[in-house]
Amino acid sequence: MNNPEENIIPHAASVLKQGGLVAFPTETVYGLGADASNPAALAKLYETKGRPTNHPVIVHVHDISQLPAWAVDIPPEAYRLAEAFWPGPMTLILRKASHVLPMVTGGQETVGIRIPDHPVALSLLEAFGGGIAAPSANLFGRLSPTRPEDLDPVLLLHVDCVLPGDAGHVGLESTIIDLSGEGQPRVLRPGMLLSTEIEAVLGYEMNIKTLESHTIRTPGSLASHYAPHTPLQLVDSHELAATIQSLQVAKPSLRVAVLVHNSSFSKNPFPDAVLLKTLPDDPPEYARQLYHTLHELDQYGAGILIVETPPSGMAWAAVHDRLRRASKIPPPTATCNHDND
Ligand code: TXA
Ligand code: MG
Repeated sequence: MNNPEENIIPHAASVLKQGGLVAFPTETVYGLGADASNPAALAKLYETKGRPTNHPVIVHVHDISQLPAWAVDIPPEAYRLAEAFWPGPMTLILRKASHVLPMVTGGQETVGIRIPDHPVALSLLEAFGGGIAAPSANLFGRLSPTRPEDLDPVLLLHVDCVLPGDAGHVGLESTIIDLSGEGQPRVLRPGMLLSTEIEAVLGYEMNIKTLESHTIRTPGSLASHYAPHTPLQLVDSHELAATIQSLQVAKPSLRVAVLVHNSSFSKNPFPDAVLLKTLPDDPPEYARQLYHTLHELDQYGAGILIVETPPSGMAWAAVHDRLRRASKIPPPTATCNHDND
């Protein structure tokens, strides 16, 4: 980085080596990083996030050549996907190497690995040299941050270094693909890397049915989710006006925040006590801005946050997944139970 803060990367790497925590930008969301080989650093990471220790974390690495340091029995498909999509918003679940700590894997026989596509994250990984365990840099159950200003002040009390960075160009957490089993690869968490793009590299269609039978050991309850503080409700476009009106009739003092994607609503046809934000009607752009916009709307102190249900279709699958979890509605198929992370 050509700026006065160029020493910050070596500083952040030494913080990690000493067992500290570093918040760093990625192309998806901010990560809260710790040395993936240091049990004390991992304990601090879990404590800071308020996350149960049997939840696995993703190990971030700098280079595909580091895969065998973390995983064994790596299938050829893993290398094909890695060559095609790394650095990028994809996490591969592989069988773990024997030394990988149970705090990284949640006590399972598998490990999640990814190479993020962000210059700051890659510089940090290169300077550090090892694997960085990094969940999203939010308190357990809360919204993921995509910008430094959206990092929770309570979380920051325990973070030793925050690396600055632009908002990620993806904006939603990585697509997680399980390649650890005997059968075909499975998508455990939808992301902005789409199944069709994955299948184009694999050369065959993934068996969607297997999603429903897959279970991994993560505690999950619908009460905890990727949630803003303001209760969030998804409402179909044609019911927006009536829903807002009836909320205001029932409780005139209620402040309502509304998030739409349909430009026909952008002139705010709703009554005065409504704060309206419009996101682009384009899945990648909507996804890129979603978390920051939800953070902004959360500041407004509204009694309820109404979100216009996005269009259906594969390009919107990850957006739907996150909004459903934020509104406490379970996803249609039981994918990875990641609603608390
Ligand atoms: O984009 C991302 O993936 C971000 C950035 C920071 O890289 N990270 C992220 O981490 O979203 P986190 O911890 O918030 O979510 C990781 C998800 C969890 O749902 C966890 O259960 C799943 O990955 N995961 C990690 N290791 C796993 C494993 N071995 N088997 C199954 N799921 C795993
Ligand atoms: Mg998370």
